[in-house]
Amino acid sequence: MEIIIRPDAAAAVDLVSSLLAQRIRRQPDAVLGLATGRTMEKLYQSLSRQALSFRQCRTFNLDEYIGLPADDPQSYRHYMQEHLFSRTDIDTRNTHVPDGSASDLKQAATQYEHAIQAAGGIDVQLLGIGEAGHIGFNEPLSAIMSRTRDKCLTPTTRRQNASMFGGDVERVPRRALTMGVGTILEAREIILLATGSAKAAIIAQAVEGPITSMVSASALQLHPNCKVIVDDEAASGLQGREYYDFIFDNEPEWAEFRS
Ligand code: GLP
Repeated sequence: MEIIIRPDAAAAVDLVSSLLAQRIRRQPDAVLGLATGRTMEKLYQSLSRQALSFRQCRTFNLDEYIGLPADDPQSYRHYMQEHLFSRTDIDTRNTHVPDGSASDLKQAATQYEHAIQAAGGIDVQLLGIGEAGHIGFNEPLSAIMSRTRDKCLTPTTRRQNASMFGGDVERVPRRALTMGVGTILEAREIILLATGSAKAAIIAQAVEGPITSMVSASALQLHPNCKVIVDDEAASGLQGREYYDFIFDNEPEWAEFRS
């Protein structure tokens, strides 16, 4: 795992946007794992402003609320359409979001796993992090080897996401269909983006704490190619900061991003 700390949220977003743009230029038919949430809105804004073609990209989103049809304004399918797909030349037939309104959720979950495999696996998986440590909707106690399945959301997550539902926690669905931690760990590269002081405590636990199913993001410590990109505020609970800054200042792979 590599931790990269940028001075503010805009710089953290810029760095992730540049890394993804580089990848798409190098590999135009990349299979991208995509995330939702407020943090990603700025990233998608930045990506869609770049001179970049998504024409051949294939995408798989991490998760979807159960019970919201795709055209519901609060569904993640709708979010993706609004924040990224409609702003780029991506072919929506190449975009995949778990089907949270399927009548048979187990079957929908199995089909999602098969579709990822049929695409050759995920090249780069983008992640945010929830305040309870979830990646996707892998809430505490999600098995590190879990696959796509339905999952009950925690009260913390429902409160955290209420702002996307007009501030009314009762409107936030209670369950979601999500890639498993095991599914996520199979991506060839992972980039987690977190900004703001509300993420400081959970970032410290995920990065420097023990690997535990109580904090799903801590499983990323097992991944051989995982970058965690944070702003100064989200980094404020990290003990090893001196070393992380030293890596960014000295590793050749980061030279082009140092100003
Ligand atoms: C939702 C998504 C997660 C994401 C999280 C972060 O819960 N299911 O995948 O990590 O939002 O949200 P935000 O960026 O709004 O803090």
